[in-house]
Amino acid sequence: MRKKITVIGGGNVGANCALRIAGKELADVVLVDVVEGVPQGKALDILQSGPVEGYDVKVTGSNDYAPTADSDIVIITAGLARKPGMSRDDLLIANTAIMKDATSKAVALSPNAILIIVSNPLDAMCQVAYSVSGFPKNRVVGMAGVLDTARFRTFIAAELEVSVENVTAVVMGGHGDTMVPLVRLSNVSGIPLTELLSEEKLKALVERTQNGGAEIVKHLKTGSAYYAPSAAAVEMAESIIKDKKKVLPCAAYLEGEYGVNGLFVGVLVKLGANGIEKIYEIKLSAEETAMLHKSAAAVKELVDVIEAQK
Ligand SMILES: NC(=O)c1ccc[n+]([C@@H]2O[C@H](COP(=O)([O-])OP(=O)(O)OC[C@H]3O[C@@H](n4cnc5c(N)ncnc54)[C@H](O)[C@@H]3O)[C@@H](O)[C@H]2O)c1
Repeated sequence: MRKKITVIGGGNVGANCALRIAGKELADVVLVDVVEGVPQGKALDILQSGPVEGYDVKVTGSNDYAPTADSDIVIITAGLARKPGMSRDDLLIANTAIMKDATSKAVALSPNAILIIVSNPLDAMCQVAYSVSGFPKNRVVGMAGVLDTARFRTFIAAELEVSVENVTAVVMGGHGDTMVPLVRLSNVSGIPLTELLSEEKLKALVERTQNGGAEIVKHLKTGSAYYAPSAAAVEMAESIIKDKKKVLPCAAYLEGEYGVNGLFVGVLVKLGANGIEKIYEIKLSAEETAMLHKSAAAVKELVDVIEAQK
């Protein structure tokens, strides 16, 4: 039997996730959105690319959750996106309600699924999905680090005029301005970045990565990035569906790792058929730990706002 991936939210990120999943023939796809006609129309359009692109999967669009039953993975992209001048945190209240709605409906019909959360503010939305689903922590994972490292890798490769494929980067922490790009652990085919770029240049690339989302929002004016975000979410889904066990930076629920307890924060994890199969706790310098704790504190502030609403 073919696998099934549900994508909730048929907007820019969601529709592109559906398109990429179909293109890779990872699974049958169900696209769900509250707007009548949008998921149906987009699903049909994606399906009709199949004969040209050469893929054979079912792509269904729906406003209700019945067709999502027994999904192996549920990717949640439902929610508002940023506009110029907005931070990810400005989306908190509206997207908390949407995340509760989407999660509760999806998990009721797919109790064994693995949830990949994409909606912002990412780490806080993971916390909402984790609490509403009641799923074990290995089955709730957030997409942020794969995108943030992709941005960092792109900037490094462009600066050095080398292939992006040779650049490995590590970004930890929350998906916000306090994210922690770890220069010490990033390299080009094993060559440490510090041997290739001046301290000043590295600082500029780190800052550009931290503001990578806002840079695109500023260009687009009407929404936020979606090509790279959908590529990142689908890389995670592929690692799970194919049990590839890729080691990727993702938001995971920490219970003491790095001195963080009861919060979703971006760390390196192994992603396989069981979702998060391992959280890597690597040795950080005092300065890196302080940056990670600052980032975790920013996540905690948002989670506290959600808790206070209850
Ligand atoms: N984690 C990341 O790195 C990352 C990257 C990019 C975007 N995002 C976030 O992903 C989310 C989606 O971004 P986008 O660009 O696709 O936005 P979008 O506005 O294009 O699409 C969002 C879709 O969600 C739908 N929706 C709203 N409420 C819903 C509900 N209750 N159930 C089902 N669908 C619902 C809307 O109708 C809309 O089609 C935003 O919150 C954005 O900030 C996160």
